[in-house]
Amino acid sequence: MARRNIAAGNWKMNTTVSEGVDLLNALGKTETPSDVTVILGAPYIHLHAMLQAEIKDIYIAAQNCHHKEKGAYTGEVSPTMLTDLGIQYVILGHSERRAYNHEDNTLLKEKVDAALAAGLNVIFCCGEPLEIRKENTQNAYVGTQLSESLSHLTVDQMKNIVIAYEPIWAIGTGETASPEQAQDMHAYIRNMLAETFDKETAENTSILYGGSVKPANAKEIFGQADVDGGLVGGASLKTDDFSDIIHSF
Ligand code: PGA
Repeated sequence: MARRNIAAGNWKMNTTVSEGVDLLNALGKTETPSDVTVILGAPYIHLHAMLQAEIKDIYIAAQNCHHKEKGAYTGEVSPTMLTDLGIQYVILGHSERRAYNHEDNTLLKEKVDAALAAGLNVIFCCGEPLEIRKENTQNAYVGTQLSESLSHLTVDQMKNIVIAYEPIWAIGTGETASPEQAQDMHAYIRNMLAETFDKETAENTSILYGGSVKPANAKEIFGQADVDGGLVGGASLKTDDFSDIIHSF
């Protein structure tokens, strides 16, 4: 897949199914520029109803999946269950799942493999906590997250990976990385992709920024050379705000 402008929403554990479908329908009524891919990450139980709504031009993503195809894993959902439903994207490695569900780079590598094997596109999240940013070692930290979970992939598999850089100190805090901080990290990631894979893979991989993206800051952040869009939490729950963000490329 070639590099694209992407506006991805991450609803997290918000909205009931009917509220989610209403939100999707409302967004479906707004116009989407043809050069922007819009994706909404919703809770598992919403996915079927959201696909049934058949909103053209909006992809629906799961926010997680298990690393095994099937078996005795009570309460889990496998990647194959998602693709069978018609889901095309999954968000993996979000910092909240890393923190609250103890997902580490090794487990995430398995999840990435399982998701790709099932035919899903992966939005793979990375990002450093505040103490790492204060030490100015964020590049090495994010570099390790990416190399331990993605560097084993083939160039072909990388075509189905979107990377989302989300500094933890900017998620849900109202504090955003400056456009320069985002650009620096995105350039670092792209350079790393060129070294790990090849130049073409680096050029073709979409790298999103996440962390308090809102209508007021989206344009400046998306305007950075290596920022291809955003993974948006809070602002994706408001139709007007998310629509503004979609129009910020
Ligand atoms: P936020 O969340 O936009 O509410 O900061 C972003 C995310 O966690 O993906």
